Amino acid sequence: MQKLLASLGQVSAVIGAQWGDEGKGKVIDILTEHFDVIARACGGANAGHTIVVDGKKHVFRLLPSGCLHEGKPVLLGSGMVIHLPTLLEELDLLKQVGIDLVPRLWISSEAHILFDFHKDIDAALEDRRVVAKGEGIGTTKRGIGPAYMDKAARRGIRLERLGEDLRSELQERAKDVQAQYGVKIDVEKEVQQLKGAESRLSKRIVDTTNLLHTMLSDGKRILMEGAQATLLDLDHGTYPYVTSSFTTAAGALQGLGLPPRALNSCIGVAKAYCTRVGAGTFPTEVTGETGDRLRERGGEYGSVTKRPRRCGWVSIPDLNYSALVNGFLCWNITKLDVLDEEGSVPVGIGEKDGKAIFKTFPGWKQSTRGITEFKKLPENAQDYIKFIEDNTGIPVRLIGTGQGREEMIIR
Ligand code: GDP
Ligand code: IMO
Ligand code: MG
Repeated sequence: MQKLLASLGQVSAVIGAQWGDEGKGKVIDILTEHFDVIARACGGANAGHTIVVDGKKHVFRLLPSGCLHEGKPVLLGSGMVIHLPTLLEELDLLKQVGIDLVPRLWISSEAHILFDFHKDIDAALEDRRVVAKGEGIGTTKRGIGPAYMDKAARRGIRLERLGEDLRSELQERAKDVQAQYGVKIDVEKEVQQLKGAESRLSKRIVDTTNLLHTMLSDGKRILMEGAQATLLDLDHGTYPYVTSSFTTAAGALQGLGLPPRALNSCIGVAKAYCTRVGAGTFPTEVTGETGDRLRERGGEYGSVTKRPRRCGWVSIPDLNYSALVNGFLCWNITKLDVLDEEGSVPVGIGEKDGKAIFKTFPGWKQSTRGITEFKKLPENAQDYIKFIEDNTGIPVRLIGTGQGREEMIIR
């Protein structure tokens, strides 16, 4: 661990290399112990980061997954779109397990408020796509796209305005929204939700950019928790089947107001296979019995929407593309144990006419669950990991062998 930590430097980012749900939350939780501040930069409650500690499962949607570690400040950056009732709900859930996060929570005054009506617009836009094209994007319906639409149109409402009387502005918006999307805004409900949030959070809303820079000059170590993943990036992902934020390392820096040179390292997180939830291209997808088996063994059901995730194999070209965009220092390959029962493990090594070309590895048919030393892995599993290293040119420093905090090989 010490060697890994030394190579990560003062500021490190954890970024998904596939279509999300790679297991970013788990590695963040493990690394948090060694960092001073955990920061989320972009996205909103479309994220679902699961960690398992002492057999108990915690799912984080807006809060960074490091928040179970007592005493560490956590920060929600300017690039985020924040649904306040969801945030309060998450804080209440933490309280139930004895953690009062509020005194060490910092929320950017520049982050945008995501209202209930954004969720309703999200659903209305999905319905329209289904009618027009027979298929939607398969969004999480958490209002992400519409909240970023308002931000880009410069009519969004940022957290700095939480204390203002926004009733008349929302009433005006209600007319537009009704006319454009047939969605009715319950202005009174929105106003009450703002009031509830203000009474609990107003003191936590600050200029997080300056705060983070002060922490940086004080020598604090900062861990940036990526949400969503590279192939869902609005610019660099599989457009239009993407999310509406910038999910790369550069996006995380932008979302936190950090300069590129502040970033010392970036860990790329990828499953030992691959999943995708929602529509869009997935050339290494496998359906039928094998896909079902991966889904069941990997528990591949959305942590936010409970939707079954589409399953398939690792794509080396995709990993290389993500590495190119993010400049990964190393990989965290997660969920190796999910492949334990497979007789063979195909890996996408190229593409022809939109179809994946596979190289197939022999499986190991042996449990890797809970293994914490690389040399204790079955030989075929070691070869599989080495193949990923050789074909991406990036070392695999972390390997997930189970859901639990301690089920990780660190090399
Ligand atoms: P995230 O969005 O990238 O944080 O990932 P999610 O939490 O949405 O999905 C990853 C799922 O895999 C969660 O249920 C984790 O508990 C689980 N998980 C993470 N790492 C491992 C691993 O190495 N092995 C197994 N079996 N499960 C893992
Ligand atoms: P974490 O952080 C997996 C997907 C949705 C949909 C597309 C657009 O847990 O890895 P959106 O609601 O963002 O407008 O949906 O992006 N998506 C995710 N898929 N993990 C996520 O987050 C995701 N966040 C968004 O399924 O295909
Ligand atoms: Mg997730």
